[in-house]
Amino acid sequence: MNTEAIRVEGARKRYGDKDALDGLDLTVGRGTVHGLLGPNGAGKTTTVRILATLLRHDEGLVRVAGHDVRTGAREVRRRIGLLGQHAALDEELGGRQNLEMFGRLHHLGARRAGTRADELLERFGLADTGRKPVRQYSGGMRRRLDLAASLITDPEVLFLDEPTTGLDPRGRAEVWESVRSLVGGGTTVLLTTQYLEEADRLADRISVVDRGRVVADGTADELKARVGADRIDVVVRDAHRLDEAAGLLPAARAEVTVDTDRRLLSAPVADRMESLAGTVRALGAAGIEAEDIALRRPTLDEVFLRLTDREAKEAAA
Ligand SMILES: Nc1ncnc2c1ncn2[C@@H]1O[C@H](COP(=O)(O)OP(=O)(O)OP(=O)(O)O)[C@@H](O)[C@H]1O
Ligand SMILES: [Mg+2]
Repeated sequence: MNTEAIRVEGARKRYGDKDALDGLDLTVGRGTVHGLLGPNGAGKTTTVRILATLLRHDEGLVRVAGHDVRTGAREVRRRIGLLGQHAALDEELGGRQNLEMFGRLHHLGARRAGTRADELLERFGLADTGRKPVRQYSGGMRRRLDLAASLITDPEVLFLDEPTTGLDPRGRAEVWESVRSLVGGGTTVLLTTQYLEEADRLADRISVVDRGRVVADGTADELKARVGADRIDVVVRDAHRLDEAAGLLPAARAEVTVDTDRRLLSAPVADRMESLAGTVRALGAAGIEAEDIALRRPTLDEVFLRLTDREAKEAAA
């Protein structure tokens, strides 16, 4: 049995003289959640549309659920679900009616469409609100209903294009919960997002995409480790002594970030314990009081900025 749900090798897509995809590579294992993380215009939606057979690529190999998207588009379509940026829900119908309609559109019989709708409403915590018209739903409820609709046919591979964009923190948490519940069932999920936290929480592996190419991939931990250095964070009690304290940290001054509002200094460290002890000593000797000192791994935000920034610098050079 093929353990890969998605394989992309050297995919290119041009719009006029612009490369939307510039040799993109991607491998996603069956039953995993893969995050495609990148800034605006990176090529995330283009990738999803090609994988979902809605758009043809110019060059490269693209396989989904064991079939080539060019020669086996019908086979691919039968095995996938897609949650696009804007879903096609009928505002006047209730959640249940919407799902039934989707089921009928996908050639489920009336009875099967009904039971499937009920299963999905139950699964996404919408059973109580199934009869309410969709226009009365909150953002989070809508998105969960979208998600339910994309699962009508029980797809092997599910594409989620920015599933939580525009939701408040609670709506986002609800959608995350729903996505997590899919994975146990063996569904492969490819998720695009601009939220680093989302990729960190949901994805088994992450590909960082920038200008049509994957600039890094791995688990969130691997990416963090790749960008290297643990960091030391110091909260200084007296805001006036922030600059002075920044000069005492065991890193080049240019590498120390200063957050004046939080009185927080942060710097990369090479040797954890030595840096910690050295910082305590240096601050003590200068008579600068620290409210907190902590060692930590870099956040995915920092990784992301480093990776995409480095790319920008190389291109400029
Ligand atoms: N139909 C089109 N015609 C011309 N250019 C396009 C078209 N669709 C996308 N592009 C360009 O291709 C590049 C990749 O776009 P894409 O929509 O895949 O990015 P994205 O990563 O999904 O961005 P976002 O985070 O804003 O959704 C962008 O530069 C975009 O302007
Ligand atoms: Mg997009």
